[in-house]
Amino acid sequence: MLKINENFCKLPPSYLFVEIARKVKEFEASHPDREVIRLGIGDVTRPLPKAVVDAMKKASDEMGCAETFRGYGPECGYEFLRKVIAENDYAKRGVTIALDEIFISDGAKSDTGNIGDIFDSGNVVAVCDPVYPVYVDTNVMAGRAGEYVEGMGWSKIVYMPCTEENGFLPELPKQPVDMIYLCFPNNPTGEAIGYQELKKWVDYANEHGAVILYDAAYEAFITEDLPHSIYEVEGAKTCAIEFRSFSKTAGFTGTRCAFTVIPKELCVEGVSLNQLWNRRQSTKMNGVPYIVQRGAEAVYSASGHEEVTENIRYYLENAKVIKGGLTKAGLKAYGGINSPYVWLKTPDGLNSWEFFDLLLEKAGVVGTPGSGFGLSGEGYFRLTSFNSKENTQKAVQRILSSL
Ligand code: MLT
Repeated sequence: MLKINENFCKLPPSYLFVEIARKVKEFEASHPDREVIRLGIGDVTRPLPKAVVDAMKKASDEMGCAETFRGYGPECGYEFLRKVIAENDYAKRGVTIALDEIFISDGAKSDTGNIGDIFDSGNVVAVCDPVYPVYVDTNVMAGRAGEYVEGMGWSKIVYMPCTEENGFLPELPKQPVDMIYLCFPNNPTGEAIGYQELKKWVDYANEHGAVILYDAAYEAFITEDLPHSIYEVEGAKTCAIEFRSFSKTAGFTGTRCAFTVIPKELCVEGVSLNQLWNRRQSTKMNGVPYIVQRGAEAVYSASGHEEVTENIRYYLENAKVIKGGLTKAGLKAYGGINSPYVWLKTPDGLNSWEFFDLLLEKAGVVGTPGSGFGLSGEGYFRLTSFNSKENTQKAVQRILSSL
């Protein structure tokens, strides 16, 4: 008899950001005269850098010409892109990454969601709490999460609370874990990790035979002296997989391009994870469009780099406006210095969804309820700096006058 993957039925009916979009749509329909400002989902608003657009136009022309047309590309990405990644993202930071250790994909969301394919369904998963919901939901789908217990979370997942008390940095797990998801600068708290602190995780993973799944999608927002890559930490190549993305770095949320690094030294029971992922990717995908990869390559050109840097500076300025405004109003706000996200403590003991409703109704501002990221996110709220400067300033004014 045909059966479905029952694990899907254990999930909440919709993905966090889909649920928020539904609520906002409902509000807009019933309040057509109200202007809503979105500081919810981390979606960029600045247009693609000119260097990227020019490169994609040129690549489109090539595709329309018999002499330069290209069909299927290499499943794991064109060498021209992997080369600039290895040089700029790694060699410049003193890290040697070989081209065949870089896998180009359509997004860090897909890669962090799909990576579970190469691991056993009996592995114990550890996540920070609060956490980007993709890590948890995809492990529910894979059958690694157990059952959902109200007020406790998933029975087989090890949660590592990140709270004001521990400076939003997880503590090493007390029980054995196999797959550790870390994201720094963190989504959703916006807090970052230092070299010494990250080294603790690398040492732990090497000592206990665990793998670190390191999501560095927000590394471009780092402004302080902090690791951009986990491979800047000694020993990481034998225990960590790193995920990177052009989405927030270069405005590719709608264009789609990212990459994952799996060092060849990283083996489990003598099997190379690099080879397994290569096998998985070359079986399940046909790569990222040539045009998009040319666009991503242009991010590393002199003018591309300049434009991208300017956009990031723009968003970080917005983050400063948000955090500054909230702090001035007496709220506790975190993140926003090495990250596009500001994580605030809700006032007056409101829970996260109550604060969501209040902001939407009174201020016409959309944010993300902290509880949507996990139990330890309750009583917190996330605002993003990805809107325009004008909208961000207006949103902050509106938030302050609605408190
Ligand atoms: C977020 O708002 O957390 C991000 O946009 C989600 C994502 O990158 O998929």
